[in-house]
Amino acid sequence: MKNDVVAHFDKDRAATYDEQWKPLAPMMDALHLLTRIAFSALPERASILCVGAGTGTEILRLAEAYPGWRFAAVEPAEAMMEVCRQRLEAAGLSDRCDFHQSYLETLPPGPAFDAATCFLVSHFLTDAAARGAFFASIAERLSAGGLLVSADLAADRKDPAFDRLMALWLDLIAAAGMLLENRIRYRQMFGVEVAAQSPQEVEALIAENGFEAPTQIYQSVLIRAWLSRRAG
Ligand SMILES: C[S@@+](CC[C@H](N)C(=O)[O-])C[C@H]1O[C@@H](n2cnc3c(N)ncnc32)[C@H](O)[C@@H]1O
Repeated sequence: MKNDVVAHFDKDRAATYDEQWKPLAPMMDALHLLTRIAFSALPERASILCVGAGTGTEILRLAEAYPGWRFAAVEPAEAMMEVCRQRLEAAGLSDRCDFHQSYLETLPPGPAFDAATCFLVSHFLTDAAARGAFFASIAERLSAGGLLVSADLAADRKDPAFDRLMALWLDLIAAAGMLLENRIRYRQMFGVEVAAQSPQEVEALIAENGFEAPTQIYQSVLIRAWLSRRAG
């Protein structure tokens, strides 16, 4: 399953990823703004772990705001990592970033990170135990009290509001240029290839795997984000 997801983020997808999601960028801009502010009390020389860094947008945004910070980009898909490297290099930021093109569990041990981001990644782990272990592996890499901002698709499919949210989400991805046949497929794979755990279930998984009870800090249709603090 993990490898299928990574295979999905191939060369063609990596090359078009940022352009494809540009129409929805305002939604992600809000998430980046909140993350920047949520992390604003971190030390001047903080180190940040970015899990599933994709094409590097969260690193770019944080690096621009906090010139003293260093980043570890963890990204298993080779093509996504290549775009991430190129973008950071073009922005003159690559000397502040360590690149690990693999999964988090293979990141060599090192000093604990002050904070982590994990945007639109854990929902690919459809098995709740694997998803919980994933959050635990992030917690293990953080210093005591270290912060995590995680964002994922989450929806309570039994909630009467779900159909309306899903309809709006499908209209949004149509506005971003997704063809009808792909939208139909997207609707079918929601809850199958992408976890459709309720917000309460995601919160419980985070809290049971190394973090204090998370606080939801953002919702835009089906995307929700939480701010969590490493427990203990
Ligand atoms: C939807 S993209 C999000 C990228 C970026 N965080 C963003 O917000 O634009 C998901 C990324 O997570 C990566 N990914 C998938 N499964 C992963 C896993 N188990 N561990 C780390 N990264 C993973 C994918 O290769 C892909 O680049």
